[in-house]
Amino acid sequence: ADSTVFRASTTAPVNIAVIKYWGKRDATLNLPTNSSLSVTLSQRSLRTVTTASCSASYPASEGDTLTLNGSLQDISSSKRTLACLASLRVLRNELESANPSLPALSTYPLRIVSENNFPTAAGLASSAAGFAALVRAIANLYELPQSPTELSRIARQGSGSACRSLQGGYVAWRSGTKEDGSDSIAEEIAPASHWPEMRALILVVSAEKKDVPSTEGMQTTVKTSPLFATRAERIVPGRMTAIETAIHNRDFPAFADLTMRDSNNFHACCLDSEPPIFYLNDVSRAAIRLVNDINHVAGKTVAAYTFDAGPNAVIYYLDDVSEIVAGTFKAILGEGLDGWEGPFGDRLKGVSAG
Ligand code: PMV
Repeated sequence: ADSTVFRASTTAPVNIAVIKYWGKRDATLNLPTNSSLSVTLSQRSLRTVTTASCSASYPASEGDTLTLNGSLQDISSSKRTLACLASLRVLRNELESANPSLPALSTYPLRIVSENNFPTAAGLASSAAGFAALVRAIANLYELPQSPTELSRIARQGSGSACRSLQGGYVAWRSGTKEDGSDSIAEEIAPASHWPEMRALILVVSAEKKDVPSTEGMQTTVKTSPLFATRAERIVPGRMTAIETAIHNRDFPAFADLTMRDSNNFHACCLDSEPPIFYLNDVSRAAIRLVNDINHVAGKTVAAYTFDAGPNAVIYYLDDVSEIVAGTFKAILGEGLDGWEGPFGDRLKGVSAG
C-alpha cells in the first residue's frame, strides 16, 4: 500500500461553564435538558494536544487507535469516540465523492495521539478539551470545510461539554428542540478580546478521578430530583438571557452573581438526587466562604466561584483585583494546592502559602 502518512495536530482548551449543563434528554446524542454557557480558558492553562494521522499503509487489522497520555485506549467499547469518528468519516466521504482526485482518507485507519497537561476525569473538563481536540484534529486532517458551530454537533456526541471547546471566549450551547440534535449546537457569543480583563484561578483540590461520572450523575438527577425539573424549565432559561446580557455589558457583579447561584443550584440538584451525589468537599466549601469574605471586605462582588462534577474550584475575577483575589487564595488556601491561573493567565504550579 501507499506509505504516505497524512497528519494534522491541534490543541483545544478546557471550558468551564457558568450556567451548567446537567441532564440529558437523549443520552446517545448527548442532547441536554437545558442550554448552558461557558468561558473557554487560555491555551496556556489547561489544554489537550492531539495529533491525528491516517495512511493506507496502517494495518487494517489494527483498526482506529487512540493513545491518551501514553496509554492505548480500547475505543471499540467507546460508543462516543466511535460516533465522532463515524460522523467525521461521513463528511470526508462527501468531499471525496464530490472530488474523486482526493486521496481516500475516509477509508484509511486512523491513529490519534492525545496528551492532557492536567489530570484526566477529575472534574476539570478533560473530556471537553479531549473530544474538541479529537474532532478538530481529524477535521483538519480531512480538510473539512465545516465551521466550528457545525463541528460542535459532532464533538457533542463525544461529550456534551466538548461542543463548547471548539470556540474561544464566551460560548453558549443552545439545547435545541429537534430530536435529531441538528439544532443542539454551540456558538461563540463574544470573543475573549471582548472582556480581556477576565481571569480564572483554578484550584486543584483533588486530582483523583471523580466519584460519580457525569453521565451517571445526570441520569440519577433527571430521574429522581424534583428540584431538577424546576431548574431546567424555570431557572436556567432566564439565567441564560441574563448572563448573556451581563457578558455583553461587561457587568462583573451580575456575571458573578449568576455564576455562583447556578453552581449552587446545580450542586443542590445533586444533593436532591436519590442517592444523593456529593461533589463538593470541605476544601470546596472553604473556597466558597473565602469568596464570600473577599466580596464582603471589598464591599462589592469582585470574585465568583463555580464547581463542576468534582471538588475543584474555579474562581473568576477581573485583572484589577488580582492581588486581592488570587493573593488571598494563595495566602490562605495555597498550601498543598496545585492551581492554574487562566483565561487568559498563566499556569501556577504548586502554589505555596505566601
Ligand atoms: O459533558 P460532560 O459529561 O463532561 O458533563 C459536564 C457537566 C459539567 O461539567 C458539570 C457542567 C458543564 O456544563 O460543563
